[in-house]
Amino acid sequence: MEKMWAGRTAGNTSAMADDFNSSIHIDSCMYREDIRGSMAHSAMLAEVGILTGDEADAIIAALEEILGDIESGALEINMNAEDIHMFVESVLTERIGDLGKKLHTARSRNDQVAVDMRLYMRGKCEEIKALLIDLIDAIVSVAAEHKYDIMPGYTHLQRAQPIVFAHHLLAYAEMFTRDLSRLLDAKARMNYSPLGACALAGTTYPISREMTAKALGFSGFCQNSIDAVSDRDFCAELLSVFSIIMMHLSRFSEEVILWSSWEFSYVELDDAYTTGSSIMPQKKNSDMAELVRGKCGRVYGDLMGTLTMLKGLPLAYNKDMQEDKESLFDATETVERCLEIFAPMIRTMKVRSENMYRAAQKGFINATDLADYLTKKGMPFRSAYKVTGAIVSECIGKGIVLDDMSLEDYRSHSELFENDLYEEISLKSCVAKRISEGATGYRSVEKQINSFTEYLKEQKGN
Ligand code: ARG
Repeated sequence: MEKMWAGRTAGNTSAMADDFNSSIHIDSCMYREDIRGSMAHSAMLAEVGILTGDEADAIIAALEEILGDIESGALEINMNAEDIHMFVESVLTERIGDLGKKLHTARSRNDQVAVDMRLYMRGKCEEIKALLIDLIDAIVSVAAEHKYDIMPGYTHLQRAQPIVFAHHLLAYAEMFTRDLSRLLDAKARMNYSPLGACALAGTTYPISREMTAKALGFSGFCQNSIDAVSDRDFCAELLSVFSIIMMHLSRFSEEVILWSSWEFSYVELDDAYTTGSSIMPQKKNSDMAELVRGKCGRVYGDLMGTLTMLKGLPLAYNKDMQEDKESLFDATETVERCLEIFAPMIRTMKVRSENMYRAAQKGFINATDLADYLTKKGMPFRSAYKVTGAIVSECIGKGIVLDDMSLEDYRSHSELFENDLYEEISLKSCVAKRISEGATGYRSVEKQINSFTEYLKEQKGN
C-alpha cells in the first residue's frame, strides 16, 4: 500500500515496521468520531472559502456514505491500514478521487487524533455516567429495604459499634457519587477542541477553529496549538477517575466476598453471579466480585503506564503517544464491564439480616454506649471508658455479654448504674440514639436515602 506520508522517504518500510507502527487494531473503534471530525472540518473549510460549497458537500456526502457502509458491514475496516485516520481518508479518495485529497488541508493527524480521542471519550463518559447512576440506584434500593437491619460496624475488621445495613451500603453510594462528579469534571476539562492546531504551530489558512469546535459540541478550542497536540492530561485524568472507581469497587467486592463466606453469611449472591467448584460440590464462589477486585490492578496499571509514557516527553506530538489509546481504552472497557455486572449482582443478593443481628449481639459493640451511659450520669468520659473496660473484661471471663450481667454486678463497678442501663445498651436503642447528622440513627439514614432518591431523579433527568 502506498503511504500517504511518502515524501522525503519513499515510504517503503518493512512489513514488520508497518505492523509495529500500526494502531488500527486499537483506534478503529473511533471511526465515527473520525468521520464526524472530518465532516465538521470540511464544512468549515467551505465556510471560510478554502473549499467550494460543492466540494465540501461532495466530501461530506461521501463521508456519510462511508460511515453508513462501516455501520452496515458493507465496508470492512482494513486492518492493514496504519490507523483509522489513514483508512477513512484512503477510502474517501478511492471513492471520490482527487477531491478526497483536499480534506486534509489545514489539518494534521496530530490534531485529528486528539479530536477523535476527546470525542470518543466524551461518549464513553456518558456511558460510564449511566452505569454509575445505575449502580448507585441499586445500592440505594437495597439500602431502602434494610433501614432497620442491625449489623456490627467494623474498624480494623473488629466489631466496633452497631449500625444498620442501609447505612453501610450508603457509604458506597457516597463514594460512587463522588466518582461521578469527578468523571463529569474531567469530561468538562477535556471538552475543548484541538482541531486546527494542525501539526503543532497552527496554519497559514484562514480557518475558523471556533466553527469546528461549535459543530463538534466542544465548549471552546484549546488556546495554544502546541499544547493542543501535546496534551494527554485528559487521558491521565480519566484513568485516575477510573482507578478510583475501581478502588471503590474492589473494596465493595472484598466485603461482598467476606459477607458471602460461611463465617459471615451476611449475604448470599444470586446463582447468576457465582460459580461452583469443579471438585467441591458444596462451593458457591463469588467469582464476579473477585474478578472485579482483581481487575482493579489492571486499571491502576493502565494509569501508571500512561503517566510513565508521558513522563519526560518533549513537546509536541511524539509517536510514544499512540500508546495512550491502548491503556485508556482497556481501562474504559474494564470499568464499564465491572460496573455493568456489579449493579445487578448487588440488586439480586439475598441479605441475611438475622445473621447480621446475631453477629451484632456478640463482640461488645454496645460498650461505647455503656460508657456514654455513665458519662451522661456525670462520670468523666475517660473514667467511664476505664470502668466499661473492666466490665467487658469481667464479662469475657464469665462468658457472657453486657446485656446479661446483673445490676448488682454492674453496681459493684459504679453506683451510677441503674435498671435503665439495659434499655440504654440494647442494640436498637444504640442505633436509635445515634442522632448526629450522617449517623446510623434511623432518621439520619432515612434522610440519606431521601437525598439519594432526589439525586438519582436529578441525574436521570439530565
Ligand atoms: N496513529 C497515531 C496516534 O494514534 C495518529 C497520529 C499520527 N501522527 C503522526 N505525526 N505520526 O497517535
